[in-house]
Amino acid sequence: MIVIYPGSFDPVTYGHLDIIDRCSKKFDKVIVSVLDNKSKRNMFTTEERVELLKKVLEGHDNVEVDTFSGLLVDYAEKKHCTTMIRGLRAVSDFEYEMQMALVNKKLVNDIETFFMVASGKYAYLSSSIVKEVAMFGGNVSCFVPEIVEKALKEKIKEGY
Ligand code: PNS
Repeated sequence: MIVIYPGSFDPVTYGHLDIIDRCSKKFDKVIVSVLDNKSKRNMFTTEERVELLKKVLEGHDNVEVDTFSGLLVDYAEKKHCTTMIRGLRAVSDFEYEMQMALVNKKLVNDIETFFMVASGKYAYLSSSIVKEVAMFGGNVSCFVPEIVEKALKEKIKEGY
């Protein structure tokens, strides 16, 4: 089975990587799809987010990194894939995730959303928190791979 793991990945964290790693062992192929959303102020461009994902996912033979814009269900149809993966960290994630899953299902009945429970050790982690810690000069090495840490430092140096 092929699954899509969509998200902003601004930037990818160990929490995302944990989900991708576990998915890649359960499914034949995982398409990690970065939302190309020009209206949202991301720290990293779509190309940079894709580049970071590709680098940290080197060696994962059944994982593809791609981008999408517009509706996720339209992208899913284009990819001939009806199964979406989303990670669940805490109860606070549930309301938004449930809403997205139900809207997607209303739009295309065939779409299914599978939720993967985040590993306990990453349950507190989010890209926003990582960016905040990095912006205040905190150590993010236990939240993101080294290459992402470097990219964060560069962005902050550039005055993000
Ligand atoms: O990592 P994120 O920001 O939580 O990911 C959210 C994402 C990209 C999965 C979601 O915003 C999305 O699918 N956006 C595409 C637009 C869409 O299909 N909206 C309708 C479903 S709510």
